[in-house]
Amino acid sequence: MTLLVTGGAGFIGSNFVLDWLRQSDEKIINLDALTYAGNLENLASLQGDARHVFVQGDVCDRALIDKLLAEHRPRAIVHFAAESHVDRSISGPGAFMRTNIEGTYTLLEAARAYWNPLPEADKAAFRFHHVSTDEVYGSLAKDDPAFAETKTYEPNSPYSASKAASDHLVRAWHHTYGLPVLTTNCSNNYGPYHFPEKLIPLMIVNALAGKALPVYGDGQQIRDWLYVTDHASAIRAVLAGGKPGEVYNVGGWNEKANIDIVKTVCALLDELRPDPAGPYARLITYVTDRPGHDRRYAIDARKIERELGWRPAETFDTGIRKTVQWYLDHPDWVQHVQSGSYRDWVSKQYGA
Ligand code: NAD
Ligand code: TYD
Repeated sequence: MTLLVTGGAGFIGSNFVLDWLRQSDEKIINLDALTYAGNLENLASLQGDARHVFVQGDVCDRALIDKLLAEHRPRAIVHFAAESHVDRSISGPGAFMRTNIEGTYTLLEAARAYWNPLPEADKAAFRFHHVSTDEVYGSLAKDDPAFAETKTYEPNSPYSASKAASDHLVRAWHHTYGLPVLTTNCSNNYGPYHFPEKLIPLMIVNALAGKALPVYGDGQQIRDWLYVTDHASAIRAVLAGGKPGEVYNVGGWNEKANIDIVKTVCALLDELRPDPAGPYARLITYVTDRPGHDRRYAIDARKIERELGWRPAETFDTGIRKTVQWYLDHPDWVQHVQSGSYRDWVSKQYGA
């Protein structure tokens, strides 16, 4: 049996592929365009492993997807490929509309054409798993209940609007065509191979370089944080036992204000790699807030827990310690991703 994974060279996709092949011999065809966020170094440990076939290509390329489906006959598609960074979606939304909306549409149409003529048993077993985000639900006030699967969609950024659109397409392909889809809406992930444009890895690499730690606005925005391999285990659980057409919210019951995340990272670095110049928290710098910045996200994960028995294995304390240690242990990975295009982004976003 075979899975077609899209975006499997990115942060969550590569963690999913590595995690999958640690536990299963089921082959993975990994389709990824290798944008700035895709990195084959994440998958270096799979070199020479016949269970992993990497294909560089675009999820908007229908002919390529048709060819891959015909050749490899997967029993499921797990769709991670996306433009994923809110700040980039604010400065340049076009790529988000193309990859996140048109790409998902292209994949759904290719999946439908492949799935329709399958023999009945294969058709019933096939799954299209769409990996989405809690950001589609919008922003919560301090005392609002956490996002349940029934929460109305109120996306506020170009990124979340494009993901919301893709979620709607996935839903429609189930209701209209019967395609057996599954959708997971997960909270903020963190862990190894996280590109240092996002909060946690940016803070780690900036602190180690003695650079400012830019906290947007008052730093009191709240996110729910989940260790990335717990997201991988949730996807495995939903793929195995989720009901076609259903949505499952995935989260870590771990709401934290941004400033507390930054202080935790600083405290761990003070312990693991003390800086003779003084505590890392001295580098914290409040900067202009993100336009339209969502105040709070929180996930009600009771459905996936109740129906599929999924639970996160890591607490925030264990996960963040592993994450900081991983960055300390992988200076080469960090150095390689800080290419010219990364430096261009940092100077555009944060100025001098
Ligand atoms: P990422 O930006 O690290 O990786 C995205 C991957 O998709 C990259 O490898 C990139 O090369 C690839 N890609 C981009 N455009 C493509 C295209 N047109 N065709 C083929 N491949 C393309 O993102 P991530 O953080 O790993 O997120 C993966 C998925 O999970 C996304 O769909 C995202 O919306 C969702 N998600 C992310 C988080 C999070 O905290 N990072 C939380 C919930 C859901
Ligand atoms: P991010 O990692 O970009 O994820 P998302 O916007 O998808 O939640 O940001 C997490 C939070 O951290 C968000 O509230 C914005 C904030 N943030 C900063 O304060 N400074 C930064 O430099 C970055 C990248 C994010």
